[in-house]
Amino acid sequence: MIEVQRLSKFYGQRKAIDDLTFTVEKGEILGFLGPNGAGKTTTMKILTCFMPASAGVARVAGYDVFDEPLEVKRRVGYLPETPPVYKDMVVRDYMMYAAALHGMHGPGARGAVDAALGKCGLGDVRNRLVGNLSKGFRQRVGLAQAIVHNPDVLILDEPTVGLDPKQIIEIRELIKSFAGEHTVILSTHILPEVQATCSRVLIINEGKIVATDKLEAISARLRKGNVFSVIVRDEASDLAPKLRKIAGVGEVAENGKFEGGNRYTVSASNGEDIRSALAETVVKSGAGLLELRRESLSLEEVFLKLTTVENTKGAQQ
Ligand SMILES: Nc1ncnc2c1ncn2[C@@H]1O[C@H](COP(=O)(O)OP(=O)(O)O)[C@@H](O)[C@H]1O
Ligand SMILES: [Mg+2]
Repeated sequence: MIEVQRLSKFYGQRKAIDDLTFTVEKGEILGFLGPNGAGKTTTMKILTCFMPASAGVARVAGYDVFDEPLEVKRRVGYLPETPPVYKDMVVRDYMMYAAALHGMHGPGARGAVDAALGKCGLGDVRNRLVGNLSKGFRQRVGLAQAIVHNPDVLILDEPTVGLDPKQIIEIRELIKSFAGEHTVILSTHILPEVQATCSRVLIINEGKIVATDKLEAISARLRKGNVFSVIVRDEASDLAPKLRKIAGVGEVAENGKFEGGNRYTVSASNGEDIRSALAETVVKSGAGLLELRRESLSLEEVFLKLTTVENTKGAQQ
């Protein structure tokens, strides 16, 4: 649905994005994650035909953003960083205006506006002034204007910025409800946001892609070898030697008391899944298995690893 090839953008001498290549499949919600200044807004402005690229190609629904901007705009809904909502307009009038910008008039426009208002939970505030709405509801109006022409693709630039926690959850749920029907790219510098909303994540830093994959795959890739956490009920001095004897086990560390038991961290020497062997050994030892799980990095840890220069190279391999 979205294809980006070797896309770069210079602002004067300054390179804001550098040779980006990625694709987004139909129905996906892609999280576009990166710290401030990473190049998220720049990329989104290019994809929505607000600004030309300096080099490279971007296609949306098969149309080139540079050669066929009208075709692209017809298929893309855009919620910019600063939502284009007019405070002195009534919600429904504003939506009719947004529909007119997309070339819709008359009963067709009214139907589209009512559908968008309904999807965004704005039916009850349709006759209120935009300026009198809460920030969360104003953001819903921003989303409603982005979907009014029923676009295939939605491009949302930091859609939850400045909202309170309850509003954030509501907006995230709303965005999730768009998946499948619309292909969504959502930018954020907030890590839990992609965990809560997105099926896949593309991490950029200083204009370059540092990783793109499913979240679990990114943390798996960053793991140096599989690490497993084992928690047992009893203090069992002979358990660590027994674990070390299992084929495929590398190091075993005794971490002491942890969450009502005793914790051991076990690494697999060549990345094998050793869980069933671990479980069997622990159960046989009679130490009382309370928990066995594979350790994975939190998104915060992944992000820090990926956006520090030292680790950038490793992540791209
Ligand atoms: N209009 C502009 N003129 C010059 N530099 C810009 C302009 N817009 C953005 N930049 C620079 O380009 C880089 C990427 O910015 P941006 O795409 O807004 O990042 P993000 O949205 O990830 O915070 C930043 O270093 C920013 O300072
Ligand atoms: Mg931005």
